[in-house]
Amino acid sequence: MRQVDLGIDGMRASTLGFGCAAVMGRVGRNGSLTALGAAYDAGITFYDTARSYGYGESEALLGEFLRGRRQSVVISTKFGIVPVPQSRIKNAVKPFARKVLSVLPSARKAVQRQIGAQFLKDHFTVEVLRDSVATSLRKLRTDYVDLLFMHSPPVTVLQQDDLLDAMQRLVEEGKARRIGISADPPVIEAAIAKGSDRLRSFQFPCSLFDMRVADRLRHYGGDNTVKVANHPFGGLSGAATTMEVLKSLARDSNTPAELRDKLRIVDESLLADIVLNTIVLGGNIQTVIPSMMSPSHLKSNIAAVEHSRFTAEEIQWLRAAIESSVRHRDIQDGSE
Ligand SMILES: NC(=O)c1ccc[n+]([C@@H]2O[C@H](COP(=O)([O-])OP(=O)(O)OC[C@H]3O[C@@H](n4cnc5c(N)ncnc54)[C@H](OP(=O)(O)O)[C@@H]3O)[C@@H](O)[C@H]2O)c1
Repeated sequence: MRQVDLGIDGMRASTLGFGCAAVMGRVGRNGSLTALGAAYDAGITFYDTARSYGYGESEALLGEFLRGRRQSVVISTKFGIVPVPQSRIKNAVKPFARKVLSVLPSARKAVQRQIGAQFLKDHFTVEVLRDSVATSLRKLRTDYVDLLFMHSPPVTVLQQDDLLDAMQRLVEEGKARRIGISADPPVIEAAIAKGSDRLRSFQFPCSLFDMRVADRLRHYGGDNTVKVANHPFGGLSGAATTMEVLKSLARDSNTPAELRDKLRIVDESLLADIVLNTIVLGGNIQTVIPSMMSPSHLKSNIAAVEHSRFTAEEIQWLRAAIESSVRHRDIQDGSE
């Protein structure tokens, strides 16, 4: 697996990282350990988690898994969304809910809304920060995290100098190697505009539907800016829409003939090849972190980043064609 320089004291990580939002959430303990094991064995060395993931249990399972492996990986975690303790009844129905979701993925949105309602959001105070990091370190069984992100903060957080000072102190104390912000594009844009020297690590949604932040960051901050792309497939519905667009490009006479032939070979890693390579190459991103709890997705994603069937020019062409097609759909749907 290709390893990239993250620009922090020689810190390196695999270009394909592992998003742990579904660990102990959508997927239970055994499935999570299997997925983590397969990822690690394939050379994935970047793991992104958060206090809130997996009903607050994702960090602990990752820590358990990484025992004896800590030095060979980069751990990214977040603070600011606090998991609410689960009642016994809720814990008891979780395995049943996971089964329902595995056969009825369309119910996922409703469940996510329900889960969202269970989190206490916007905990961006110095006290919560210190408490949250202490908990993260204990759960992750480590004395430092490599990347510590604010988790989806409001834009006003950029005015909270006391919080940024406290985050910086964690770096000085050796509890975090680098601090940053993980947020939606408008907040990242505001952070870029502010140009703070302390916030040089960014995590943001980056998919074929929206690569604006990646473009904005292309020339920002030099080599020691960390750029992590999350939500690359745009979730389940994004993956389905992208496949539809690819099928129509495979039929479109405006698509170059050789590329059309490649798009007609619809195998398991076609989607991953285009999505992940567009983000990494076209977006100039160091690490992209899909959720890939299913073995087939993990396999496709690894195959895609290790060997693309497309040339750099074809990836560039596809990016422009998909963006234009998505824009056209948005206009037709009236969402612009
Ligand atoms: N605010 C934040 O900080 C924030 C927000 C969102 C996400 N994140 C991070 O980003 C990670 C990924 O985000 P996400 O899960 O929202 O979005 P995503 O990775 O775009 O979507 C994941 C969905 O696509 C599926 N998938 C994975 N590889 C595939 C492939 N090759 N072909 C078709 N489908 C594929 C996954 O299935 P399986 O998992 O079942 O294999 C899952 O259903 C999270 O785990 C988290 O670490 C952070």
